[in-house]
Amino acid sequence: MRWTPTTPEASLARTHIIGTGSYAPARVLTNQDLERMVDTSDTWIRERTGIQERRQAAPDEATSDLAVNASRHALEMAGVAPGDLDLIIVGTVTADMPMPSCAALVQSKLGAKRAFAFDVSAACAGGLYALSVADQFVRSGQVKRALVVGADLLTRAVDWTDRNTCVLFGDGAGALVLAAEQDAEEDAMAPRGILSTHLRTDGDLANLLCIPAGGSRIPVTADNVDANLHKLKMNGKEVFRFAVRALVESTQASLGAHGMDTTQVDHVIAHQANLRILEAVMERLEIPKEKCWLNLHKYGNTSSASLPMSLDEAQRAGRLKRGDVIAMMAIGAGMAWGSAVVRW
Ligand code: ACO
Repeated sequence: MRWTPTTPEASLARTHIIGTGSYAPARVLTNQDLERMVDTSDTWIRERTGIQERRQAAPDEATSDLAVNASRHALEMAGVAPGDLDLIIVGTVTADMPMPSCAALVQSKLGAKRAFAFDVSAACAGGLYALSVADQFVRSGQVKRALVVGADLLTRAVDWTDRNTCVLFGDGAGALVLAAEQDAEEDAMAPRGILSTHLRTDGDLANLLCIPAGGSRIPVTADNVDANLHKLKMNGKEVFRFAVRALVESTQASLGAHGMDTTQVDHVIAHQANLRILEAVMERLEIPKEKCWLNLHKYGNTSSASLPMSLDEAQRAGRLKRGDVIAMMAIGAGMAWGSAVVRW
């Protein structure tokens, strides 16, 4: 299904990202650590993925804990009190428990009493999907302030005996505070804020990346756990191939919707899955690769967290200047993918 974006011209208000935050657990798991766990090498992981290390949550940490830490940083930057939030959306596929939602737990821990809260499941595209949904609520005037979180704890979902997958993932959370803002000095030809988001899904590709057990199809039983069906399975080669094509097409479409091309992009904030995926995407889009924020060497693939964490790092590093055009892109299991164009 294709979702057609609202053009900025037709919108009632534009959503601005007024605060960003991130959190990564303290424990560092290096490639050398993995060499001691599976038949792999630091050289293989660096050359094939660009990853050097990742973070792993402490045994007493769950996804909502990561999400709350990231959210506090974002709220602080935005100067927004939790009680002033109207909406919380958490993109995650590793909520603390099947129900209630991770967002409900985040709402409680933050004391965001007024906010209604729910999760969005789009795997590694979860941060972008959550941003897109929140943008619709803010843009339409239904909510004034929204908190968007991407948080995942995939180290609990990977099979630590499978070298094809266990080297790729890490834990983390990123958060964004959104508000409808009137920009007094706004240039009518170059409006600021989230210009649009484009989401795509192809459920025919669901088998490329999935966790088979733990839902209604294959419940968690001792036999299913013995067969490792509650752990992540992936066809890495096919995901790689599809990801490059999908991210390129989606980004071209979202820029084209605003009469832009890739020469006008100042920054790329992308889901961090594999350095080679990002290099191929940047090359095909003819965007200099220096414009793509990279942190996968430190965190690996943090799934839903990856995109908001990257935006937060770029912002705190002073890279994002007022008026800069940011192309965002993400892809994950589903397959679910998308892009967004933001003028900072
Ligand atoms: N260490 C050493 N050798 C390994 C490892 C490892 N960790 N993993 C696989 N190999 C071996 C394979 O067994 C294979 O050996 P063989 O030739 O003897 O059969 C060889 O390395 C090559 O394997 P390939 O799968 O062809 O390696 P490839 O270059 O495709 O890289 C990778 C694999 C890194 C998984 C890549 O396909 C990839 O990144 N795919 C995208 C997956 C992804 O990012 N998923 C995340 C979620 S979706 C998303 O975010 C886009």
